Amino acid sequence: MASVIFLILAILSCSRTSGATSRGGGLFEASAVEKHEQWMSRFHRVYSHDAEKASRFEIFKKNLKFVESFNMNTNKTYKLDVNKFSDLTDEEFQARYMGLLVPEGKTRTSQETVSFRYENVSETGESMDWRQKGAVTAVKNQGHCGCCWAFSAVAAVEGIMKIAKGELVSLSEQQLVDCNRENKGCGGGIMWKAFNYIINNQGITTEDSYPYQASQQTCDSTHSIAATISAYETVPQNDEEALLKAVSQQPVSVAIDGSGAAFKHYSGGIFEDEDCGTHLTHAVTIVGYGTSEEGIKYWLLKNSWGEQWGEDGYMRIKRDVDAPEGACGLAKLAFYPLA
Ligand SMILES: *[C@@H]1O[C@H](CO)[C@@H](O)[C@H](O)[C@H]1NC(C)=O
Ligand SMILES: *[C@@H]1O[C@H](CO)[C@@H](O)[C@H](O)[C@H]1NC(C)=O
Repeated sequence: MASVIFLILAILSCSRTSGATSRGGGLFEASAVEKHEQWMSRFHRVYSHDAEKASRFEIFKKNLKFVESFNMNTNKTYKLDVNKFSDLTDEEFQARYMGLLVPEGKTRTSQETVSFRYENVSETGESMDWRQKGAVTAVKNQGHCGCCWAFSAVAAVEGIMKIAKGELVSLSEQQLVDCNRENKGCGGGIMWKAFNYIINNQGITTEDSYPYQASQQTCDSTHSIAATISAYETVPQNDEEALLKAVSQQPVSVAIDGSGAAFKHYSGGIFEDEDCGTHLTHAVTIVGYGTSEEGIKYWLLKNSWGEQWGEDGYMRIKRDVDAPEGACGLAKLAFYPLA
């Protein structure tokens, strides 16, 4: 009932002020109001007061317009949809749901001179999906905490543990958020520092014993160790061929530019965004690759934004692009831990 009244008011106020707006614009406004109501109930969003609702509606409307006009272009290999991020500005979204901090002037790590152990891998095959090998845990959700770096690193460690030890165990991002002081908890971080923490700490515990809180807490060092790594290596930079060799052997942590409006609203297909830069803002884990039915090569990314984003929490993104950095810079900064 309230929503019907709100809708009517919106139509009225719109028609009163829409002298300069086209009829189509008015209809869009009315349907946007309705869609916002539907969206609020679908994502259980409650606003504390009308002013907040009004300002969130303006942002939602902008995002809705972006999604709808994008999807009208049939020439795209992927689709967008409104999702739980759709009432956030791009700036808010970036601050809350990413969290990659690349140290100033240090896009390379101290291990750069160490040899790339997969350089001579010759059989990478047509496709790989580490989920089918049982080396990938369920999609997780970082929530309102900029610690993508922890999820990216943990997924790679979970993968190598399964491959080396035969057991898939969900490991603790919270331990990294609380205890990895080289990184900044929900304020951001980078995966190689997380690997260093796990090496120096002689392991990491399970998700079950140190569950995720989506905020930084006091480090609790009493948990027993569930997984260890001995080292990590860096994939040669800006080299998708090298990345392919690495991913054929194990899931790999990568940095990526996830800040774009299309990335935020991705709902399926093979992502390729001309507006996507190579300024690295986010971290994910590459858990496979393949070629679509249409013949487009892709990487399979595991994200940490819950199962409602993308393809059940995953993204397929174009592989072997013209730029050496890869789509959205995904080949610039990639690491994998060693058992
Ligand atoms: C549609 O895609 C084809 C093939 O990639 C391309 O050649 C063409 O320019 C595209 N058209 C538009 C309008 O983007
Ligand atoms: C790869 O092969 C070359 C030539 O045989 C060899 O020199 C190099 O050590 C190999 N690299 C690794 C990591 O095994």
